[in-house]
Amino acid sequence: MKITVINGTEKKGVTYKLKEIFLEQFRDRAEITEFNLPKDGPGFCTGCTACFMNAQNLCKDAETVQKIEKALLEADLLVFTSPAYVFHTTGAMKAMLDHFGYRWMNHRPAKEMFGKRAIIITQCLGAGGASTAKDIKESLSWWGVSYIRTCSFRLMSEIHWDKLPEKKRDAMTKKLTSMARKMLLINYSKPAHTGVITKMKFYIVRMLQTSIGKDNPEYTDFKYWKSNGWIDGERPWRLE
Ligand SMILES: Cc1cc2nc3c(=O)[nH]c(=O)nc-3n(C[C@H](O)[C@H](O)[C@H](O)COP(=O)(O)O)c2cc1C
Repeated sequence: MKITVINGTEKKGVTYKLKEIFLEQFRDRAEITEFNLPKDGPGFCTGCTACFMNAQNLCKDAETVQKIEKALLEADLLVFTSPAYVFHTTGAMKAMLDHFGYRWMNHRPAKEMFGKRAIIITQCLGAGGASTAKDIKESLSWWGVSYIRTCSFRLMSEIHWDKLPEKKRDAMTKKLTSMARKMLLINYSKPAHTGVITKMKFYIVRMLQTSIGKDNPEYTDFKYWKSNGWIDGERPWRLE
């Protein structure tokens, strides 16, 4: 199986440690590709809107964005990690997610995303781990991913892994290991089930795209929906 990991920090801190604990279960059976942000990520979106209006390859960061996208689309399991920075995901992760705005369902979602599985691992000192996971989950669900699991931790007493109470480290290790073992049992040759919320979003956007297409059949997003057959009877969750 293939796993693609997007790390919202390059630091080898607690986020890194938690991610390593999760991946440990997959090391001998998965091909793992990691992107450490901001080093391996695109620059900031400048708001040129070329990706939305015309084509994603016109972006100044197209090469990096497409490299990340290729790895995401090829993976069976997506792993996103981030510490909480002022109650949200890191700026580096947000900068990367902004570049995938054109992949939101209301624009041009990749059909492969509908069958993907993802896990989001976040942690914080006291509060903000859950809202950090939500920042990432929001994008993934709008990309079409239904199967998203989150693991959020609060460290409470200390921010250095080695100085954390042993009981705390054990509890986090146990939770991540058990999550990883459960995810190891999945048959990845079968796409994940597309949930009702994802389908509802799809049908609302389909109505919008149909109406846009009546006025402007050359509209980039409409043409994409039309060419995928989604305006007609095809559905992205019915993967061949
Ligand atoms: C810029 C910045 C903002 C932070 N904001 C929060 C926060 O909102 N809530 C919180 O509990 N911890 C916050 N922290 C603490 C980190 O989330 C915490 O130390 C975390 O363990 C760091 O993970 P790392 O070791 O992977 O870098 C912040 C840290 C930084 C550097």
